Amino acid sequence: MIFLRSRFLLSQFSITATLLSSPLLYYNNISGLSSALNCDSGTLFHFNKNSSVINTSLRQFSLKMAWYCSANSNEDLVNNLKMANIINSKRVEEAMKTVDRRKYVSQSPYRDSPQQIGYGATISAPHMHAHALENLEPFLQPGMKVLDIGCGSGYLTACLAEMVGPEGKVVGIEHIKELVDMSRKNIQKDRPELLESQRVILVHGDGREGYLEEAPYDCIHVGAAAEKTPHALINQLKAPGRLFIPVGGYDQYIYQIDKDVNGNVTHKKVMGVMYVPLTDADKQWSR
Ligand SMILES: C[S@@+](CC[C@H](N)C(=O)[O-])C[C@H]1O[C@@H](n2cnc3c(N)ncnc32)[C@H](O)[C@@H]1O
Ligand SMILES: *[C@@H]1O[C@H](CO)[C@@H](O)[C@H](O)[C@H]1NC(C)=O
Ligand SMILES: *[C@@H]1O[C@H](CO)[C@@H](O)[C@H](O)[C@H]1NC(C)=O
Ligand SMILES: *[C@@H]1O[C@H](CO)[C@@H](O)[C@H](O)[C@H]1NC(C)=O
Ligand SMILES: *[C@@H]1O[C@H](CO)[C@@H](O)[C@H](O)[C@H]1NC(C)=O
Repeated sequence: MIFLRSRFLLSQFSITATLLSSPLLYYNNISGLSSALNCDSGTLFHFNKNSSVINTSLRQFSLKMAWYCSANSNEDLVNNLKMANIINSKRVEEAMKTVDRRKYVSQSPYRDSPQQIGYGATISAPHMHAHALENLEPFLQPGMKVLDIGCGSGYLTACLAEMVGPEGKVVGIEHIKELVDMSRKNIQKDRPELLESQRVILVHGDGREGYLEEAPYDCIHVGAAAEKTPHALINQLKAPGRLFIPVGGYDQYIYQIDKDVNGNVTHKKVMGVMYVPLTDADKQWSR
């Protein structure tokens, strides 16, 4: 079998487009469950550990599989993410249950996929938000300080603020002014106390430089894919501290970059993803 990678246009979820011989396959390896969709025939293949192939219909795929955690309520969405073993931490579960995704995106809020929010941006898929919160959980303890780069809808910023509690602080930075306003409006409507207390502050700026004014951070979340790891961000981590960042152009992976208590830095590849690029504002959205 010859696997050739192919570009997949939908932004940001853990699916890599793969060309298998001729039919296009979407390969998905969320939490170890592998599946692939043959787009020519609309046939879904689930590969279990021994590589035997089971298939179901395209309809079932789109309803259940690519977004197999989708639900009709925020509570059920989070419960599905738990059942899929994407959420394991009680604190992550509580944060995602407290912040109702519907307040941050009106279109299909409980579908486990990214949704367009305008200005060339998306709100990331719920399973990606869950992966990010789970990965960063040790660095989202009460009182900790967080930088959320590309805060977009404000949804994850609010979840991060839930996790670090009233003594903590989350700085959201976003390079599109309209999206800074959107995140502020969404958080203001949902949880105004986060803004009033300044547990959350929102900044208009280029996140590739981090945000030196509030550095250092216990952890940094990056919501768009960097071409290469920006060293400015590693410099703004505390020791210990963690950076969760998608890196790559055509071929993207989440990297977990840890700075230990001595300041030593290690890079760990976590999973393949597809995010919108961390780029210049006018390349993303031309007025
Ligand atoms: C996939 S969206 C995720 C948004 C947000 N985390 C959410 O889930 O709603 C990526 C965001 O990164 C922003 N972005 C891209 N490049 C950026 C940069 N250089 N500096 C700051 N934000 C950037 C985009 O405008 C967009 O809002
Ligand atoms: C799929 O995920 C599992 C568990 O995360 C990992 O062990 C396995 O190597 C992955 N498979 C591929 C082909 O990426
Ligand atoms: C592989 O998995 C299938 C489906 O679960 C099972 O029927 C089959 O016996 C397994 N084969 C081996 C060699 O384990
Ligand atoms: C997969 O589905 C197709 C069409 O629905 C069917 O013809 C084929 O036999 C199925 N393959 C397996 C291994 O079940
Ligand atoms: C980590 O940093 C300390 C202090 O700078 C250094 O002595 C040590 O050799 C480093 N360890 C590794 C594994 O690089």
